[in-house]
Amino acid sequence: MTYLEDFFALKDKVAVVTGGGGTLPGAMAYALIKAGVRVSLWGRGSNTPISESVRNMKEKTGCPESVTGETVDTGNEEDVLRGLKHTEKEIGKPEILINGVGGVGKLSAFGDLNIREFNDSLRNNLMAGCVVPSKVFSTYWIANQIKGAIINIASMTSFLPLPGTWPYNVAKAGIINMTKSAANELAQHNIRVNAIAPGFFIGKQNKHLLIKQEDPPEYTPRGTAILGHIPAKKFGSPEELSGATLLLASNKASGYITGICIPVDGGYLTASI
Ligand SMILES: NC(=O)c1ccc[n+]([C@@H]2O[C@H](COP(=O)([O-])OP(=O)(O)OC[C@H]3O[C@@H](n4cnc5c(N)ncnc54)[C@H](O)[C@@H]3O)[C@@H](O)[C@H]2O)c1
Repeated sequence: MTYLEDFFALKDKVAVVTGGGGTLPGAMAYALIKAGVRVSLWGRGSNTPISESVRNMKEKTGCPESVTGETVDTGNEEDVLRGLKHTEKEIGKPEILINGVGGVGKLSAFGDLNIREFNDSLRNNLMAGCVVPSKVFSTYWIANQIKGAIINIASMTSFLPLPGTWPYNVAKAGIINMTKSAANELAQHNIRVNAIAPGFFIGKQNKHLLIKQEDPPEYTPRGTAILGHIPAKKFGSPEELSGATLLLASNKASGYITGICIPVDGGYLTASI
Protein backbone atom coordinates (compact mmCIF):
# COMPACT_ATOMS: atom_id res chain seq x y z
CA MET A 1 0.00 0.00 0.00
CA THR A 2 1.36 3.45 -0.88
CA TYR A 3 1.64 6.27 1.64
CA LEU A 4 -1.32 8.06 0.02
CA GLU A 5 -3.53 4.93 -0.07
CA ASP A 6 -2.89 4.48 3.64
CA PHE A 7 -3.33 8.23 4.33
CA PHE A 8 -6.79 8.42 2.71
CA ALA A 9 -7.82 4.81 3.59
CA LEU A 10 -10.71 4.88 1.12
CA LYS A 11 -10.24 1.39 -0.28
CA ASP A 12 -13.33 -0.80 0.12
CA LYS A 13 -15.45 2.01 1.55
CA VAL A 14 -18.98 2.32 0.16
CA ALA A 15 -20.52 5.55 -1.12
CA VAL A 16 -23.80 6.76 -2.54
CA VAL A 17 -23.59 9.65 -5.01
CA THR A 18 -26.97 11.24 -5.68
CA GLY A 19 -27.42 12.82 -9.10
CA GLY A 20 -24.62 10.39 -9.98
CA GLY A 21 -25.46 10.51 -13.68
CA GLY A 22 -24.79 14.26 -13.70
CA THR A 23 -21.65 16.16 -14.68
CA LEU A 24 -20.20 17.16 -11.31
CA PRO A 25 -21.50 14.28 -9.17
CA GLY A 26 -20.29 11.91 -11.91
CA ALA A 27 -16.77 13.36 -11.70
CA MET A 28 -16.82 13.07 -7.90
CA ALA A 29 -17.98 9.45 -8.17
CA TYR A 30 -15.16 8.77 -10.65
CA ALA A 31 -12.56 10.08 -8.16
CA LEU A 32 -13.97 7.90 -5.36
CA ILE A 33 -14.04 4.78 -7.54
CA LYS A 34 -10.45 5.30 -8.68
CA ALA A 35 -9.49 5.65 -4.99
CA GLY A 36 -10.95 2.19 -4.30
CA VAL A 37 -14.49 3.09 -3.14
CA ARG A 38 -17.52 1.04 -4.24
CA VAL A 39 -20.10 3.54 -5.47
CA SER A 40 -23.82 3.44 -6.14
CA LEU A 41 -24.95 6.17 -8.54
CA TRP A 42 -28.44 7.35 -7.70
CA GLY A 43 -30.64 9.30 -10.04
CA ARG A 44 -34.22 9.82 -11.07
CA GLY A 45 -33.41 8.45 -14.50
CA SER A 46 -35.70 11.07 -16.04
CA ASN A 47 -33.46 12.03 -18.97
CA THR A 48 -30.88 9.24 -18.98
CA PRO A 49 -31.68 5.88 -17.33
CA ILE A 50 -29.33 5.24 -14.41
CA SER A 51 -28.32 1.92 -16.01
CA GLU A 52 -26.73 3.94 -18.83
CA SER A 53 -24.80 6.13 -16.37
CA VAL A 54 -23.61 2.97 -14.59
CA ARG A 55 -22.48 1.40 -17.88
CA ASN A 56 -20.57 4.56 -18.84
CA MET A 57 -18.93 4.81 -15.42
CA LYS A 58 -17.87 1.14 -15.50
CA GLU A 59 -16.20 1.73 -18.86
CA LYS A 60 -14.64 5.06 -17.94
CA THR A 61 -13.14 3.88 -14.64
CA GLY A 62 -12.20 0.38 -15.79
CA CYS A 63 -13.49 -0.82 -12.40
CA PRO A 64 -16.80 -2.52 -13.30
CA GLU A 65 -17.01 -4.36 -9.97
CA SER A 66 -17.01 -1.03 -8.07
CA VAL A 67 -20.00 0.61 -9.75
CA THR A 68 -23.70 0.08 -9.32
CA GLY A 69 -26.77 2.27 -9.54
CA GLU A 70 -30.29 2.83 -8.35
CA THR A 71 -33.26 4.78 -9.66
CA VAL A 72 -34.25 6.92 -6.67
CA ASP A 73 -36.14 10.19 -6.31
CA THR A 74 -34.04 11.72 -3.53
CA GLY A 75 -36.84 14.10 -2.59
CA ASN A 76 -38.95 11.16 -1.47
CA GLU A 77 -38.05 9.78 1.97
CA GLU A 78 -39.50 6.29 1.40
CA ASP A 79 -37.70 6.02 -1.92
CA VAL A 80 -34.38 7.02 -0.29
CA LEU A 81 -34.90 4.39 2.43
CA ARG A 82 -35.67 1.76 -0.20
CA GLY A 83 -32.58 2.78 -2.21
CA LEU A 84 -30.40 2.61 0.89
CA LYS A 85 -31.55 -0.92 1.79
CA HIS A 86 -31.01 -2.08 -1.78
CA THR A 87 -27.56 -0.47 -2.01
CA GLU A 88 -26.58 -2.10 1.30
CA LYS A 89 -27.52 -5.52 -0.09
CA GLU A 90 -25.66 -4.91 -3.34
CA ILE A 91 -22.36 -3.38 -2.24
CA GLY A 92 -22.37 -3.06 1.57
CA LYS A 93 -23.20 -0.40 4.16
CA PRO A 94 -22.62 3.10 2.73
CA GLU A 95 -20.36 5.33 4.85
CA ILE A 96 -20.17 8.26 2.43
CA LEU A 97 -23.05 10.28 0.99
CA ILE A 98 -22.49 12.83 -1.74
CA ASN A 99 -25.56 15.00 -2.18
CA GLY A 100 -25.15 15.86 -5.88
CA VAL A 101 -28.77 16.51 -6.90
CA GLY A 102 -29.60 20.07 -7.95
CA GLY A 103 -29.81 22.51 -10.80
CA VAL A 104 -30.14 26.20 -11.48
CA GLY A 105 -33.39 26.31 -13.49
CA LYS A 106 -34.90 29.35 -15.19
CA LEU A 107 -33.97 33.02 -14.92
CA SER A 108 -36.64 35.45 -13.81
CA ALA A 109 -37.07 39.01 -12.58
CA PHE A 110 -38.33 39.11 -8.98
CA GLY A 111 -41.74 40.46 -9.98
CA ASP A 112 -42.17 37.70 -12.56
CA LEU A 113 -41.45 34.83 -10.18
CA ASN A 114 -43.66 31.81 -10.63
CA ILE A 115 -44.33 30.66 -7.05
CA ARG A 116 -44.95 27.04 -8.02
CA GLU A 117 -41.62 26.92 -9.87
CA PHE A 118 -39.91 28.61 -6.90
CA ASN A 119 -41.24 25.87 -4.59
CA ASP A 120 -40.21 23.17 -7.07
CA SER A 121 -36.67 24.55 -7.16
CA LEU A 122 -36.43 24.66 -3.34
CA ARG A 123 -37.76 21.11 -3.22
CA ASN A 124 -35.16 19.98 -5.75
CA ASN A 125 -32.09 21.87 -4.54
CA LEU A 126 -32.65 21.89 -0.79
CA MET A 127 -34.91 18.93 0.01
CA ALA A 128 -33.92 16.38 -2.69
CA GLY A 129 -30.41 17.87 -2.90
CA CYS A 130 -29.65 17.69 0.82
CA VAL A 131 -32.28 17.47 3.57
CA VAL A 132 -34.09 14.22 2.73
CA PRO A 133 -31.07 11.97 1.97
CA SER A 134 -29.07 13.50 4.86
CA LYS A 135 -31.90 12.76 7.31
CA VAL A 136 -32.28 9.15 6.15
CA PHE A 137 -28.53 8.39 6.03
CA SER A 138 -27.65 10.02 9.35
CA THR A 139 -30.48 8.17 11.13
CA TYR A 140 -29.22 4.92 9.59
CA TRP A 141 -25.62 5.71 10.58
CA ILE A 142 -26.57 6.48 14.16
CA ALA A 143 -28.55 3.21 14.41
CA ASN A 144 -25.62 1.23 12.91
CA GLN A 145 -22.85 3.18 14.72
CA ILE A 146 -21.24 4.10 11.39
CA LYS A 147 -18.84 7.05 11.21
CA GLY A 148 -20.49 8.55 8.15
CA ALA A 149 -19.39 11.47 5.99
CA ILE A 150 -21.75 13.72 4.05
CA ILE A 151 -20.59 16.06 1.29
CA ASN A 152 -23.14 18.65 0.20
CA ILE A 153 -22.82 20.65 -3.01
CA ALA A 154 -23.13 24.36 -2.38
CA SER A 155 -22.47 27.03 -5.02
CA MET A 156 -21.08 30.52 -5.52
CA THR A 157 -24.68 31.63 -5.02
CA SER A 158 -24.46 30.34 -1.44
CA PHE A 159 -22.24 33.37 -0.81
CA LEU A 160 -23.04 35.91 -3.55
CA PRO A 161 -26.44 35.74 -5.25
CA LEU A 162 -26.49 35.65 -9.04
CA PRO A 163 -29.10 37.74 -10.84
CA GLY A 164 -32.34 36.01 -11.77
CA THR A 165 -31.79 32.61 -10.12
CA TRP A 166 -33.84 33.43 -7.01
CA PRO A 167 -34.86 30.03 -5.65
CA TYR A 168 -31.47 28.51 -6.52
CA ASN A 169 -29.64 31.28 -4.61
CA VAL A 170 -31.87 30.80 -1.58
CA ALA A 171 -31.59 27.00 -1.65
CA LYS A 172 -27.81 27.05 -2.00
CA ALA A 173 -27.47 29.56 0.88
CA GLY A 174 -29.59 27.07 2.84
CA ILE A 175 -27.14 24.28 1.99
CA ILE A 176 -24.40 26.10 3.93
CA ASN A 177 -26.70 26.52 6.91
CA MET A 178 -27.74 22.85 6.74
CA THR A 179 -24.09 21.80 6.51
CA LYS A 180 -23.18 23.70 9.66
CA SER A 181 -26.22 22.77 11.72
CA ALA A 182 -26.10 19.09 10.77
CA ALA A 183 -22.33 19.04 11.45
CA ASN A 184 -22.97 20.55 14.87
CA GLU A 185 -25.68 18.09 15.89
CA LEU A 186 -24.18 14.97 14.34
CA ALA A 187 -20.55 15.35 15.52
CA GLN A 188 -21.47 13.55 18.78
CA HIS A 189 -22.32 10.51 16.62
CA ASN A 190 -19.01 10.70 14.70
CA ILE A 191 -20.78 11.87 11.56
CA ARG A 192 -19.08 14.63 9.59
CA VAL A 193 -20.96 17.02 7.32
CA ASN A 194 -19.08 19.27 4.92
CA ALA A 195 -19.70 20.99 1.59
CA ILE A 196 -17.93 21.82 -1.63
CA ALA A 197 -18.88 25.03 -3.42
CA PRO A 198 -18.03 24.60 -7.10
CA GLY A 199 -17.46 27.77 -9.07
CA PHE A 200 -18.62 27.62 -12.68
CA PHE A 201 -18.44 24.35 -14.56
CA ILE A 202 -20.32 23.64 -17.76
CA GLY A 203 -22.96 21.10 -16.68
CA LYS A 204 -26.09 19.79 -18.40
CA GLN A 205 -28.31 21.94 -16.22
CA ASN A 206 -26.50 25.31 -16.68
CA LYS A 207 -25.05 25.06 -20.20
CA HIS A 208 -27.88 27.10 -21.71
CA LEU A 209 -27.06 30.00 -19.37
CA LEU A 210 -23.32 30.08 -20.07
CA ILE A 211 -22.53 29.09 -23.65
CA LYS A 212 -24.06 29.75 -27.05
CA GLN A 213 -21.92 27.20 -28.88
CA GLU A 214 -19.07 24.91 -27.92
CA ASP A 215 -16.73 24.79 -30.91
CA PRO A 216 -15.36 27.40 -31.24
CA PRO A 217 -16.53 28.49 -27.79
CA GLU A 218 -18.95 31.38 -27.78
CA TYR A 219 -20.38 32.54 -24.47
CA THR A 220 -23.70 34.15 -23.56
CA PRO A 221 -23.49 37.68 -22.08
CA ARG A 222 -23.97 36.04 -18.65
CA GLY A 223 -21.18 33.53 -19.37
CA THR A 224 -18.87 36.36 -20.50
CA ALA A 225 -19.64 38.40 -17.36
CA ILE A 226 -18.93 35.41 -15.11
CA LEU A 227 -15.66 34.59 -16.89
CA GLY A 228 -14.57 38.20 -16.42
CA HIS A 229 -15.07 37.76 -12.67
CA ILE A 230 -12.99 34.57 -12.35
CA PRO A 231 -9.33 35.37 -11.58
CA ALA A 232 -8.27 32.03 -13.17
CA LYS A 233 -9.99 33.23 -16.39
CA LYS A 234 -11.55 29.88 -17.19
CA PHE A 235 -14.51 27.70 -16.28
CA GLY A 236 -13.70 24.73 -14.07
CA SER A 237 -13.21 21.15 -15.26
CA PRO A 238 -15.24 18.61 -13.28
CA GLU A 239 -12.06 16.61 -12.39
CA GLU A 240 -10.90 19.67 -10.44
CA LEU A 241 -13.38 18.68 -7.71
CA SER A 242 -11.54 15.40 -7.07
CA GLY A 243 -9.08 16.67 -4.43
CA ALA A 244 -11.72 18.27 -2.22
CA THR A 245 -13.96 15.21 -2.67
CA LEU A 246 -11.34 12.68 -1.57
CA LEU A 247 -10.22 14.85 1.33
CA LEU A 248 -13.72 15.35 2.75
CA ALA A 249 -14.80 11.74 2.07
CA SER A 250 -11.85 10.29 3.97
CA ASN A 251 -12.38 9.90 7.71
CA LYS A 252 -8.69 9.31 8.08
CA ALA A 253 -7.54 12.39 6.16
CA SER A 254 -10.21 14.80 7.47
CA GLY A 255 -11.55 13.14 10.62
CA TYR A 256 -11.41 16.42 12.57
CA ILE A 257 -12.96 18.52 9.78
CA THR A 258 -16.67 19.12 9.94
CA GLY A 259 -19.08 21.94 9.10
CA ILE A 260 -16.86 23.59 6.47
CA CYS A 261 -17.37 24.47 2.84
CA ILE A 262 -14.45 24.33 0.38
CA PRO A 263 -14.83 26.64 -2.62
CA VAL A 264 -13.35 25.20 -5.84
CA ASP A 265 -13.80 28.32 -7.90
CA GLY A 266 -10.64 29.60 -9.61
CA GLY A 267 -10.66 32.46 -7.10
CA TYR A 268 -14.20 33.73 -7.89
CA LEU A 269 -14.97 34.50 -4.24
CA THR A 270 -11.82 36.60 -3.89
CA ALA A 271 -12.80 39.06 -6.60
CA SER A 272 -14.60 42.26 -5.61
CA ILE A 273 -14.35 44.36 -8.77
N1 LIG B 1 -22.22 23.03 -12.97
C1 LIG B 1 -21.87 24.02 -12.17
O1 LIG B 1 -21.19 24.98 -12.56
C2 LIG B 1 -22.29 24.00 -10.73
C3 LIG B 1 -21.81 25.01 -9.90
C4 LIG B 1 -22.16 25.00 -8.56
C5 LIG B 1 -22.96 24.01 -8.05
N2 LIG B 1 -23.41 23.04 -8.89
C6 LIG B 1 -24.25 22.01 -8.28
O2 LIG B 1 -23.68 20.73 -8.51
C7 LIG B 1 -24.72 19.76 -8.55
C8 LIG B 1 -24.65 18.99 -9.86
O3 LIG B 1 -24.73 19.91 -10.94
P1 LIG B 1 -24.37 19.52 -12.43
O4 LIG B 1 -24.02 20.79 -13.10
O5 LIG B 1 -23.43 18.39 -12.46
O6 LIG B 1 -25.83 19.12 -12.93
P2 LIG B 1 -26.38 17.82 -13.71
O7 LIG B 1 -27.76 18.18 -14.17
O8 LIG B 1 -25.40 17.34 -14.71
O9 LIG B 1 -26.52 16.74 -12.51
C9 LIG B 1 -27.59 16.69 -11.60
C10 LIG B 1 -28.20 15.29 -11.62
O10 LIG B 1 -29.21 15.20 -10.61
C11 LIG B 1 -30.29 14.41 -11.10
N3 LIG B 1 -31.51 14.74 -10.31
C12 LIG B 1 -32.18 15.93 -10.29
N4 LIG B 1 -33.21 15.86 -9.41
C13 LIG B 1 -33.18 14.61 -8.86
C14 LIG B 1 -33.96 13.91 -7.86
N5 LIG B 1 -35.00 14.49 -7.25
N6 LIG B 1 -33.63 12.64 -7.54
C15 LIG B 1 -32.58 12.04 -8.13
N7 LIG B 1 -31.79 12.63 -9.07
C16 LIG B 1 -32.10 13.89 -9.44
C17 LIG B 1 -30.38 14.82 -12.57
O11 LIG B 1 -31.08 13.85 -13.31
C18 LIG B 1 -28.89 14.94 -12.94
O12 LIG B 1 -28.39 13.68 -13.39
C19 LIG B 1 -26.03 20.54 -8.37
O13 LIG B 1 -26.37 20.60 -7.00
C20 LIG B 1 -25.66 21.94 -8.85
O14 LIG B 1 -26.48 22.91 -8.31
C21 LIG B 1 -23.11 23.01 -10.21
